[in-house]
Amino acid sequence: MFKFPLAYNTFSKNDEILISKVFREGFLTQGKITQNYEFRLSEFFNSKYAVAVNSGSSANLLMISALIYSKDQSLKLRRGDEVIVPAVSWMTTYSPLIQLGLVPRIVDIDKDTLNISIESIKNVINEKTKCIFAVNLLGHPCEFKELLDICKQHNLILLEDNCESMGAKYDSKYTGTFGLMSSQSTYMSHHISTIEGGFVLTNNEYFRDLLVSLRSHGWARDINQNSRFYSENITNKNYEYLPDDFLFLLPGFNLRTTEINSQLGISQLPKLDDIISIKRTISGEFSIILNKYQNLFSTQIDKYFSSCFGFPIIAKNKRDKDLLKIELEKNGFQTRPIVTGNILSHPVSKFFPGEIPKLKISTLVHENGIFIGNYFPKVSEAVKAFEKSFDLFL
Ligand SMILES: Cc1ncc(COP(=O)(O)O)c(C=O)c1O
Repeated sequence: MFKFPLAYNTFSKNDEILISKVFREGFLTQGKITQNYEFRLSEFFNSKYAVAVNSGSSANLLMISALIYSKDQSLKLRRGDEVIVPAVSWMTTYSPLIQLGLVPRIVDIDKDTLNISIESIKNVINEKTKCIFAVNLLGHPCEFKELLDICKQHNLILLEDNCESMGAKYDSKYTGTFGLMSSQSTYMSHHISTIEGGFVLTNNEYFRDLLVSLRSHGWARDINQNSRFYSENITNKNYEYLPDDFLFLLPGFNLRTTEINSQLGISQLPKLDDIISIKRTISGEFSIILNKYQNLFSTQIDKYFSSCFGFPIIAKNKRDKDLLKIELEKNGFQTRPIVTGNILSHPVSKFFPGEIPKLKISTLVHENGIFIGNYFPKVSEAVKAFEKSFDLFL
């Protein structure tokens, strides 16, 4: 057991009481509580729609699938289309692209923010490029002005994987509200937790309907009959004899959440700001200490408003990284790699089409990166232990 673990638990006695109540009331799968949760999410993040699902990975799968089944010719992905995506993210950012026949065009990250490098994007855009799937890594917002400019100039769709950055802001606007759609995760170790869970944010009504239908078997239930999505899928009068609850429009999935997870989400959401505040304080203290060793180590630069998912450290050389890892663990910190490191350095890279590009910063992060948590009840104790871990480098 580590004194300063990567994951934490913010559930309270009250959550236990609320869940028991849901359980006793008897309707447990996605229903009215989930609708309420979605409403609160959309209000909180100032997005027109929130669609709750059972994980951040499901949110990614749902977004990419919605683009495959879209009949909007300007907002559609087809087999063989290229999607630009950074090399450092989670595997399930890439999985739906590969599974659905798209071509992930993997690019390098920026050395200061660890987010997708704008220069690298410009270098790979070609006539097959249709989408940029930006990832707000570890709480840090991407360069949205540049991303939106590039998308406008080249007619590209912008998607966001915001699974690690709930509550982060760029120009006072929440990350996850810049792209056509964004994914969020409420997995156990994320900013707020519903045990497993996630949701998609979008301002686009047509895509909201696509997401809702694909989430639940592809049925027409929950879709407004006056909507564009409904009418474009009802092409034959005979379908009218089937009730919407049992009318299928698309080959969908079952990615639904449950009322228990949604109830947890409702009680966790108001805690988000305080959680971020503690994370920002601890990351700030860690950064001050790390700064004294800037000839040996660096971290992500907080250019906008980071929700500081955790604390990444990148050593200039591998030997120092190995030494620091031992010291951090000796002082009670649980450590891990920075997200996946470079995804193309994993065995799964054989499933990525095309040649494997050489990516300098992603490789550096892969080889010399360490990650620790930043949410601990005793802040000063954690800061002292962190400082002590560097004594060796004085
Ligand atoms: C960037 C990113 N995308 C997607 C996911 C998947 O989220 P989940 O674990 O809820 O499936 C994660 C998970 O940690 C992630 O870090």
